[in-house]
Amino acid sequence: MNSVTQNVRLSSGFYMPLIGFGTYKIQGRDIIYEVVDESLKVGFRSIDTAVVYRNEEDIGHALKDLLPKYNLQRSDIFITTKLAPSENGNPEGIEQSVQKSLKALNTTYIDLYLIHWPGTTRIPETSTDNPSLRAKTWDKLVDLKEQGLLRSIGVSNYTIDHLEGLLKNCRGVPPAVNQVELHPHYRQEELIKYCNEKGIHVQAYSSLGTSSSTSLLRDPTVVKIASQLNVSPARLLLKWALQQGIGIIPKAVKKEHIRDNILLDFSIDEKDMNTLSSLPQQKYTWDPSNVY
Ligand SMILES: NC(=O)c1ccc[n+]([C@@H]2O[C@H](COP(=O)([O-])OP(=O)(O)OC[C@H]3O[C@@H](n4cnc5c(N)ncnc54)[C@H](OP(=O)(O)O)[C@@H]3O)[C@@H](O)[C@H]2O)c1
Repeated sequence: MNSVTQNVRLSSGFYMPLIGFGTYKIQGRDIIYEVVDESLKVGFRSIDTAVVYRNEEDIGHALKDLLPKYNLQRSDIFITTKLAPSENGNPEGIEQSVQKSLKALNTTYIDLYLIHWPGTTRIPETSTDNPSLRAKTWDKLVDLKEQGLLRSIGVSNYTIDHLEGLLKNCRGVPPAVNQVELHPHYRQEELIKYCNEKGIHVQAYSSLGTSSSTSLLRDPTVVKIASQLNVSPARLLLKWALQQGIGIIPKAVKKEHIRDNILLDFSIDEKDMNTLSSLPQQKYTWDPSNVY
């Protein structure tokens, strides 16, 4: 089986492609149409968005037109979206938000719905109200899953502490996925171990070090190993995650990048994996460790 068609079975019983297409910072009807077109053409079958990316409607519009072009059905693709942090703890707002996402994405169900952030925009990160708001959010998502609107539910940017709290009170529905920043500069080994033990699939975001930095793609060790393997630094970074069973959702606008990111049928030997897993640590995105 090649990388493109590799799936992971989530604890919900549904299967998710290990490789998905990230869409943060891609906005505008025409550009979304072009990138969705190219990503489907080269083999991506999973797309990652969020309410706060403000591109769900354009993604829905593109899929409506492009699925028939590639002879695909809705069931052939996997859509992930995420609850805006402003709605955490607000059951009515969550229901409305899910309904809005369904409409925008032009679908009757969402494959994976994530709590985007363990905190809430209305209150400080350190507020002791955060755990009960998270619990309320989860409770509502379980209801919406039971109604069939959400197939799998999960979290994003959850630390071990946040997960511990959720697992104690999850109505028998553990999070299927924890989507977190993860790459050789931010390896989160303890979190991966914890999630593996609990059957929570870890999905990496910002595998290439985000759209705002090239530090990771230009790391001399990454560049050197990539050149020895005759692959691009981006492919090496993506394979580093994939080879550990971690899902990936690289974002790209340039067509050559979109095509590059799906060419992952090679392997990294143990020595190079270990070298990549010993680089100095640097975090590139928001840090949830202060969210109570
Ligand atoms: N849950 C969360 O809190 C969260 C946070 C951040 C991200 N995410 C998700 O994860 C996705 C990926 O993370 P990210 O958007 O931070 O960025 P990323 O995937 O780490 O990196 C994107 C950057 O890498 C460039 N790139 C892509 N493929 C390349 C290649 N083959 N060679 C060289 N450069 C390449 C892109 O350039 P071009 O665009 O110019 O092609 C863009 O500048 C997001 O889009 C989003 O879906 C989730």
